[in-house]
Amino acid sequence: MVIARNVAELRLAVAAARKAGKTIGLVPTMGCLHAGHLALVDLARREATCCVVSIFVNPSQFGPKEDFSKYPRPFEEDCRLCEGRVVDIIFAPGSDFYPAEYSTWVNEDAVSSGLCGEFRPGHFRGVATVVLKLLNSCSPDVAIFGRKDLQQLAVIQRMVRDLDVPVRIVAAPTEREADGLAMSSRNRYLAPEDRARARVISEALRRAQALVVAGECQASVLLAAATRQLADETAFRLQYITIVDRETMRPVDKVTRGASVIAVAGFLGETRLIDNVDL
Ligand code: PAF
Repeated sequence: MVIARNVAELRLAVAAARKAGKTIGLVPTMGCLHAGHLALVDLARREATCCVVSIFVNPSQFGPKEDFSKYPRPFEEDCRLCEGRVVDIIFAPGSDFYPAEYSTWVNEDAVSSGLCGEFRPGHFRGVATVVLKLLNSCSPDVAIFGRKDLQQLAVIQRMVRDLDVPVRIVAAPTEREADGLAMSSRNRYLAPEDRARARVISEALRRAQALVVAGECQASVLLAAATRQLADETAFRLQYITIVDRETMRPVDKVTRGASVIAVAGFLGETRLIDNVDL
């Protein structure tokens, strides 16, 4: 496994793989890898013959009061996990990935505006910018993103379409803990009592899903049912719950099977959690 510490090293490693006839699959991450990331790696290995994992805690997607400095960075452990999953190249640039006097940003103006975009101003500008930099540095055939970050995925798909980025974006299903909690590097921030409470999030989403299966399609009815369930867990502080079209992120009044998603964000203690399921 090659560990590339800058763009030049990454390009050398990718060129060698291409020369050997390989196709390139990129899994962008911020490290602190868990089983959800490893499922993305497994998918990348099915989609391409050389798997690149990027590990970069991207400062530009964190707000001033967010957890950039305390974001866990267990790099050695991440390398061990990648090695165990037969990753070919780790791309772990330093802070100079953004050169001095960096001043170029990618703003997606539609898909990124509601949901998390409303509560995390500048977040998707940071995500779109770093993802475009990663795609330009690696030139993969395919890049893998988890469906757990629903809006991030939609923003990246829109950016790739609008800017004619020559890459295929593949969406991977959300990996869940045994009690239904969506896997996330931030779950490790949860105090044990909040970790136990966190199951309410996926339970509320599944309640809405079950109502759709039973024939209900009014978003207001589904949202009321899910909100009631979330309210049973008084420690959970809801930020938003909404039903949107998965591509545009626009709220819908009526569910369209296969196109509508129910998405939620909220806090347990200081930890912000997001989740979504297809309806
Ligand atoms: O999903 C993440 O881990 C990050 O937002 C990403 C896509 C690696 C960009 O920093």
